[in-house]
Amino acid sequence: MTTALRRPLIAGNWKMNLDLRAARNLLRALRENLSDVAAEVAVCPPFTLLAAAAEELKGAPIRVGAQDLFWEKTGAYTGEVSAEQLVDIGCSVVLIGHSERRRCFGETDDTVARKLKSALRAGLMPVVCVGETLEEREGQKTYRVLQTQLKGALSGLAPAEAGKIVVAYEPVWAIGTGKTATPTQAQDAHLFIRKTLATVLGSEASMAVRILYGGSVKPDNADALMAQPDIDGALVGGESLKPVSFLRIIHFQAPAEAG
Ligand code: PGA
Repeated sequence: MTTALRRPLIAGNWKMNLDLRAARNLLRALRENLSDVAAEVAVCPPFTLLAAAAEELKGAPIRVGAQDLFWEKTGAYTGEVSAEQLVDIGCSVVLIGHSERRRCFGETDDTVARKLKSALRAGLMPVVCVGETLEEREGQKTYRVLQTQLKGALSGLAPAEAGKIVVAYEPVWAIGTGKTATPTQAQDAHLFIRKTLATVLGSEASMAVRILYGGSVKPDNADALMAQPDIDGALVGGESLKPVSFLRIIHFQAPAEAG
């Protein structure tokens, strides 16, 4: 599990799900049952529910995050939402470069880099998503893909700033498929990500960056994943819509300390 340097972060990615009433019910269930939690917790509802979520969670130890943003502050960009607008309604987290955005909406490492800079400019905590497809994994390209995505995302950032980011490793073949990376496969990718971050940011800063695992995280695999030394949290899709499951993942069981 993560060291004292890195507080675990469990974030729920609701994707394009839930209406206002269902969102309020879910948030109330979370807020009422969050007891003594060691992890930092965040939920990322769709844009339409963000203001209500921020209001519902006022005073609760749960951050509100968006699933995307646009890099300009204001202007003629129909359909887009800026980092500053997110902060204004109470968001403090934003997902950037999720594989569904890369695949369905043409996001590239360049757009991810621009979005990341704008999130940092506004003081949001960015969660930069990276991960390989099944074809890339089977073609032994996992490391190359992760390295390209990370270096692309971080290009032009000062190490001090880049140290504020969170990275989510989400193998595309594990998202929404019920197929989870094994703890060993995930740890292996996380360690590679940390080493890549060290080459860009320096090793001290890389040790402070939280790296989340995402892709079919469930109550019955969360403990084993969280027990890995370089897995510092989880980005949870489907199971974050179910209060009992998400609460169980949030209250993951840390392995007993040796000695
Ligand atoms: P999943 O989604 O947990 O439903 O696989 C994770 C994600 O896409 O962030």
